[in-house]
Amino acid sequence: MHIELRNISHEFNLETGILPVLKNLSFSIPKGKFTAIVGPSGCGKSTITRLVSGLLKSNRGEVLISKEVVKSPRSSVGMAFQNPVLLEWRNILENVILPLEIVSKNIPREKKIARARELLELVGLAEFEKSRPSELSGGMKQRASLCRALVHKPELLILDEPFGALDAFTREDLWQTMLTLKKQESFTCILITHDLREAFFLADEVLVLSGRPATLQYQLSSKLGDNRKLEDLYTNETTKSLAILRKQIEIAQKK
Ligand SMILES: Nc1ncnc2c1ncn2[C@@H]1O[C@H](COP(=O)(O)OP(=O)(O)OP(=O)(O)O)[C@@H](O)[C@H]1O
Ligand SMILES: [Mg+2]
Repeated sequence: MHIELRNISHEFNLETGILPVLKNLSFSIPKGKFTAIVGPSGCGKSTITRLVSGLLKSNRGEVLISKEVVKSPRSSVGMAFQNPVLLEWRNILENVILPLEIVSKNIPREKKIARARELLELVGLAEFEKSRPSELSGGMKQRASLCRALVHKPELLILDEPFGALDAFTREDLWQTMLTLKKQESFTCILITHDLREAFFLADEVLVLSGRPATLQYQLSSKLGDNRKLEDLYTNETTKSLAILRKQIEIAQKK
């Protein structure tokens, strides 16, 4: 699924006046690629996810998914957020199945269960399918939430700071899980994050947005290949790339 944003501008009408949030923003993500978006807090990153998922219509410009203009939400998108919001009255398996109950009503229940189990197995939660969300750790809840986002085989996965609330070690664990999922499932991915190492480790390309109203300020390709591992974050080359990204964020924050 190829994603393209063309000259997007967006503003919100507040009681106190107009708040310009995005200004002439254009970028594209090739099918199957992973793009991370970083930028100052409040610059408009979550707004971009709402535009791409069709939950919000921009004032100017357009979002194209596979060359079609996005006008409304579509089922070929999966999303996960900082707060996993799992339903406590359903066990983990039933939580993961939920999107299939909504978008794939005709699939037999056994098939839905098999699909959910396949993902739970992949992220190491097979033994916890009968647990309630409150019985899981933060990292485990986020794993379940990733399974739920992917269960209906979306072509586009949108992640808005999914690992932001986790401690550093759990976060690194989840990065590896993300790579496993990326190898196994085929999706195009947009990751919003404040963590430059996370952006660089997971993405094929990192986009740095300017301060509000945000526009594309800088673009960096990750040279880590398909078999990237955590140690790759500690090489001289990666350190240089991270320093460049850090500098770009400083520039964006001053704007
Ligand atoms: N529905 C809305 N109505 C009015 N203003 C909004 C709305 N949604 C977002 N905003 C404003 O738009 C700006 C961008 O918000 P957005 O949530 O996209 O930022 P963000 O880059 O995701 O920030 P953070 O990194 O803190 O999550 C903010 O100033 C916010 O107050
Ligand atoms: Mg946000």
